[in-house]
Amino acid sequence: MADASEAIESSLQERRVFPPPAEFARHAHIKSREEYERLYRESIDHPEQFWGRMAEQIPWFKKWDKVLDWQHPYAKWFVGGKLNASYVCLDANIERGLGDKAAILWEGEPESGRPGSGGSVHRISYRQLRDDVCRLANGLKKLGVKKGDRVTIYMPMVPEAAIAMLACARLGAAHSVIFGGFSSQAIADRVEDAKSNIIITADGGFRRGNVVPLKHNVDEALKKTDRVKTVVVLQRVGAPVDPDMPRADVNWVEGRDVWWHELVRDQSTDCPAAPMDAEDMLFVLYTSGSTGKPKGIIHTTGGYLLGTYLSAKYVFDLHDEDIYWCSADVGWITGHSYVVYGPLANGTTTLMYEGAPNYPDFSRFWSMIERHQVTVFYTAPTAIRAFMRAGRELVDKHDLRSLRLLGTVGEPINPEAWMWYHEVVGGEHCPIVDTWWQTETGGIMITPLPGVTPTKPGTATLPFFGVDAAIVDRKGNELPLNQGGLLVIRKPWPSMLRGIYNDPDRYVKQYWTEVPPYYFTGDGARRDEDGYFWIMGRVDDVINVAGHRLGTMEIESALVAHDAVAEAACVGMPHEMKGQGIAAFVTLANGFNPSDKLKKELTDWVGKQIGAIAKPDQVRFTPALPKTRSGKIMRRLLKELATSGDVKGDVTTLEDFTVIARLKEQDEG
Ligand code: WT7
Repeated sequence: MADASEAIESSLQERRVFPPPAEFARHAHIKSREEYERLYRESIDHPEQFWGRMAEQIPWFKKWDKVLDWQHPYAKWFVGGKLNASYVCLDANIERGLGDKAAILWEGEPESGRPGSGGSVHRISYRQLRDDVCRLANGLKKLGVKKGDRVTIYMPMVPEAAIAMLACARLGAAHSVIFGGFSSQAIADRVEDAKSNIIITADGGFRRGNVVPLKHNVDEALKKTDRVKTVVVLQRVGAPVDPDMPRADVNWVEGRDVWWHELVRDQSTDCPAAPMDAEDMLFVLYTSGSTGKPKGIIHTTGGYLLGTYLSAKYVFDLHDEDIYWCSADVGWITGHSYVVYGPLANGTTTLMYEGAPNYPDFSRFWSMIERHQVTVFYTAPTAIRAFMRAGRELVDKHDLRSLRLLGTVGEPINPEAWMWYHEVVGGEHCPIVDTWWQTETGGIMITPLPGVTPTKPGTATLPFFGVDAAIVDRKGNELPLNQGGLLVIRKPWPSMLRGIYNDPDRYVKQYWTEVPPYYFTGDGARRDEDGYFWIMGRVDDVINVAGHRLGTMEIESALVAHDAVAEAACVGMPHEMKGQGIAAFVTLANGFNPSDKLKKELTDWVGKQIGAIAKPDQVRFTPALPKTRSGKIMRRLLKELATSGDVKGDVTTLEDFTVIARLKEQDEG
């Protein structure tokens, strides 16, 4: 683990400590280290008592009979309890007097006035949001959607994405949101796996001044599967926001396609929230794993909502007056948990932005923070690095004094980026919460509490309530401090995944048999002398590109689907901006020759097969791949080559690899 020991070395030198500002701590929900430790202890020693009490904070239609039923590795939380996620996020807030408060503040990408003035803004109150959700829910009901169905959502970052999710939740149908950057092939695969017969999409979405042809992608996807009977289409691009903007050309299939605005036009704003069992599925969300096929992570209603509600409240220290902005897309778990469910369950105003961070330039985020008086800002290290490169002048032009708390998620943050975030964006007075978690964990797992935890650049610090995290070896023995090992979770937690859709065996194999009996995260990490967790990155065949998770096998499958490719192996390599980039080693089929043109063709091909985020940063043609005697590709070796640049030039010779392979075989034999 070459990169792991490097990480240890650089982090051992990290001596800077930033205690929470006293002023912040005074107003925080959790104010002292003693309070955190007392609650944490209770959550680990008496989880049922702790979670039972915490669960009282959200509204239930019917209380649970039992807090936890744990039949390893299957957890049931709040057994017998009934609730509805859309009720918790909407009606309950209206009932406590927040009906007129902004639930969603949204800004579109195209600028509507002079440069720098931002895009059109929608302010949607909690009452309005409930009305919109109910109308769509009634419309979906008319289209035949019922409790237990899976509804696919492929949308731009517009309020209607959240409305669609909440409308599903209201009816008890599970949503399956697909990131708008994914390809038609990815849509078809996910629709098939989820057995979803309805898609909610938009004519297009704005991204970096262009139109993302969402409806077109859906049309293409539906040539590959005949499962989908209904496509609901939001008019986003065709609506005259700005007459000079490009329009999406929308193909229309009579009898299948339905305009959103026509669907909801005559619907009532009254739609009772279905009483859901705590363990009923709230959503499925596909994420990459170590096999070629993305897995549908299942989250259920009660535990997930409680987990995201409580972590949002304590980690982002949400108060009534906050304007909270998580810049993630709703297509990822971060968008599910911390754009939609977590903040709305808290009655918070959540800001959504449609477009790219660098449109029209890299000051967009700062002007938005100033314009909307954002108080809590949550983004990814990759974005911070890009802002750093763009220059602090862009930040300094703006008044960011409304900010009181900053967060990061998705990948390890390098200390330079952390310091820049702290000094330039946070004006040295905002605590930073570096939050470690996963699609599978549903909510934040390792994180500072902003009024409590002294932070150090580069560490996610300490476990959140109920999280029994440990660093262990392959056999599950806990390792001494400062020794790198595997990050596992030893106890069930409410927002944990409940399974993999359609693939129960894989759930057990993937998460519970690597380091039995614990939940294996796939990450390597170490703890320092303060007990802080330093995440070193994935130890499996998953690459984290710009905070987005990709499986090497997925990219390889896409590559070998191309006529020119005989074999492919993909590995992660360090990338200055994206954290990790993708290096693809490719052997060509008979009759094909290496060329720059083919390189570009293969790169674009992967983009088309999966999505732009999966495009390899490097394609290296090679006459052979190094393999073990049993025929396994030696990825570790390729990783070394991609990382150290040991192999010069892009075309390596057969001899190089067979020699390496033979040497390696001797080592192992
Ligand atoms: C993987 C999970 C959780 C939402 C976004 C990503 C990496 C996540 C951190 C962090 C270091 C992090 C891990 C993890 N990761 N947060 N704060 N520090 N690494 O969700 O796509 O499920 O990916 O992201 O490697 O396993 P995801």
